[in-house]
Amino acid sequence: AYTAKIGPSILSSDLSQLGRECERMMECGADYLHLDVMDGHFVPNITFGHPMVECLRKAVGPNPFFDMHMMVSRPEQWVKPMAAAGANQYTFHLEATTNTGSLIKEIRESGMKVGVAIKPGTTVEELAQWAGQIDMALVMTVEPGFGGQKFMEDMMPKVSWLRSQFPSLDIEVDGGVGPDTIHRCAEAGANMIVSGSAVLGSSDPRTVIALLKDVVLE
Ligand code: DX5
Ligand code: ZN
Repeated sequence: AYTAKIGPSILSSDLSQLGRECERMMECGADYLHLDVMDGHFVPNITFGHPMVECLRKAVGPNPFFDMHMMVSRPEQWVKPMAAAGANQYTFHLEATTNTGSLIKEIRESGMKVGVAIKPGTTVEELAQWAGQIDMALVMTVEPGFGGQKFMEDMMPKVSWLRSQFPSLDIEVDGGVGPDTIHRCAEAGANMIVSGSAVLGSSDPRTVIALLKDVVLE
């Protein structure tokens, strides 16, 4: 049976209450937490860095899986600090580095899982050459930088192609995913589903997460 995990993006939550929001999402049925790090350089927005992650880890305890989406230039510089802060997976953008091979190795040596992300304009072939060495491929379904954007359905061929080539690779989709669009992602074979505004913008996140799970769990 097809199963996928749901990871709320807490970018769309009340940022003054991040610890509580993380706990609330886990209580509402989230499988993991997707944490969006933006540096104002790789993307035109700023969020938070490893000091915040360290505090969140203390607040929520050891269990919730922290999937770090690093929308930053020079992703090499945050590997050790993020590992020390309690991150579980480090997903960097292929567009942000020329040292992909050594970065993958460094992340793995630091004890985290390795993810590689591509923006909508980057081909899946560029990612494919690394797919055998990583835990997760992140196919962006919006231009990274902001929550609440429209899902780009034309990214789905990237997901289906990756799924056909790499049956056991984790494939994540991120951007504009909610109850209206998750079917497309599930059909294409994504098994890690990020949802920001659809979950956190709702007055009833538990029901939205349950709805999403209905589509991806059989
Ligand atoms: C966008 C971020 C996403 C975003 C998702 O740059 O990487 O994780 O928060 O939010 P929604 O689901 O609202 O598009
Ligand atoms: Zn993200």
